[in-house]
Amino acid sequence: MNIKLSNKNSTDVNADILVEFVTSDELLKHTEVAILNKAGFKAEQDSTCFLHEKGLLVCGVDSQKSDDIRSAMACAIKLLKASNYESAKLGIHSKRTVSALVDGILLGGYEYNVYKSKPKKSTFKKLFLTADGLDFEKIERVFNEAIIVANATNFTRDIVNTTPHDLHPQTLVALAQKLAEENKLGCKILQEEELKKENMHAMLAVGRASIYGSALIHLSYKPKNPKQIISLVGKGLTYDSGGLSLKPATSMVTMKMDKAGACGVLGMIKAASELKLDVEIHAFIGAVENMIGGDAYKPDDVLVARSGTTIEVRNTDAEGRLVLADVLDYAQNKVKADGIFDFATLTGACVVALGPFTTGIMGHSHKLKHEFSKAASNAGELTGSLPFNKHLKKFLKSEIADISNTSSKPYGGAITAGIFLDTFIKDENKEKWMHFDIAGSAYTETPWDCNVYGATGAGVRMMCEYLKSID
Ligand code: BES
Ligand code: ZN
Ligand code: ZN
Repeated sequence: MNIKLSNKNSTDVNADILVEFVTSDELLKHTEVAILNKAGFKAEQDSTCFLHEKGLLVCGVDSQKSDDIRSAMACAIKLLKASNYESAKLGIHSKRTVSALVDGILLGGYEYNVYKSKPKKSTFKKLFLTADGLDFEKIERVFNEAIIVANATNFTRDIVNTTPHDLHPQTLVALAQKLAEENKLGCKILQEEELKKENMHAMLAVGRASIYGSALIHLSYKPKNPKQIISLVGKGLTYDSGGLSLKPATSMVTMKMDKAGACGVLGMIKAASELKLDVEIHAFIGAVENMIGGDAYKPDDVLVARSGTTIEVRNTDAEGRLVLADVLDYAQNKVKADGIFDFATLTGACVVALGPFTTGIMGHSHKLKHEFSKAASNAGELTGSLPFNKHLKKFLKSEIADISNTSSKPYGGAITAGIFLDTFIKDENKEKWMHFDIAGSAYTETPWDCNVYGATGAGVRMMCEYLKSID
């Protein structure tokens, strides 16, 4: 499907259907209010009414604000794609809603059909956005940027949605190499031999029972005069069976999503390079598969992490923090960054704490937390801050090693996981680091807003908004 931005007046554009967003107040003054009333249309948010004879698709919204427009646009695009129409048009009323419209169209209209033997075919080909009477140059810039970010989000979704058989650590390596080539990024891959030389024994232990070798992926985007250097770190568990602390059957389903942090970070560096941002970006990914087998790492093992810290394994399903411990340490060693941001589907506890749509933000810097929550809300993502405290840290005490990989208490699990990661953040980086737990936000089995079934691409829009705001 093609989206075309036009500076013409909507009446001068030829299309099968005109799409309108209408609040309940605006409905009272609508030229078709009588028919809409008869159809039972009340302009409730996300309700729609097709007036085929009039060539009109009316969409209900609570307000004309971005969040409501994005969600309504996602509903509208699904209807248009399922219809037999070929084209539609809609008027842009303000610069602020341009990204929301693009997200509604591209993210709400996203379909993952790779494993369907007979994918649905749509006749819908063209959507015109008309921006008559507005500053067209500005609108065009926002529009083009929004397309890049939405496409990067869908790129992330595609990888996360790929099955664990088709996407394992080594395919993730190949995918990263392809992205590096296409977007002219630096690319360094550390296979198991090199990981051993780097003493990344926590990460290596997690992947030991997999038939695929674990790998560390380091991509870099280096513009000429960067305003800042940012390191992004992603949890890339291409499958999390739980290991010997095996997950129950029902909890294992969807665990292909445990690579969403890594895939998000790939989407972020892709977008940053295509937006040509003046920010140097390093993406570090721990690509690992957590499986069972005779050589699997075990509860009771003690691992020596790259930093030298010893970790008592009490649960092999708390594997993401072990991988991140080593990758965070490596990232801090290799790049002196102004910001270090990790993304991980780290804990079920985060989903319990914040619900299934919201990303948990943790870290020491109130300023960064505030900036990210602003960036997220501008970009249409939900975030909630989870506070560290020194009392929770005691739950990670180990009798035989420096730290345990699980908490001794069943409460505050998202925070204790964040505090575990904090142990691997160097003192000089404490205020530069943020941890994003995307366990709830990375994947959905019930569509919401512009998110459809499956991977959401959580983090990509928020991070792009944050990176764009760096000056
Ligand atoms: N990958 C999971 C976390 C997860 C859960 C992501 C649900 C998405 C949805 C992680 O590796 C895990 O299993 N964490 C354990 C930690 C526990 C053993 C301390 C969890 O959350 O139960
Ligand atoms: Zn796990
Ligand atoms: Zn996991």
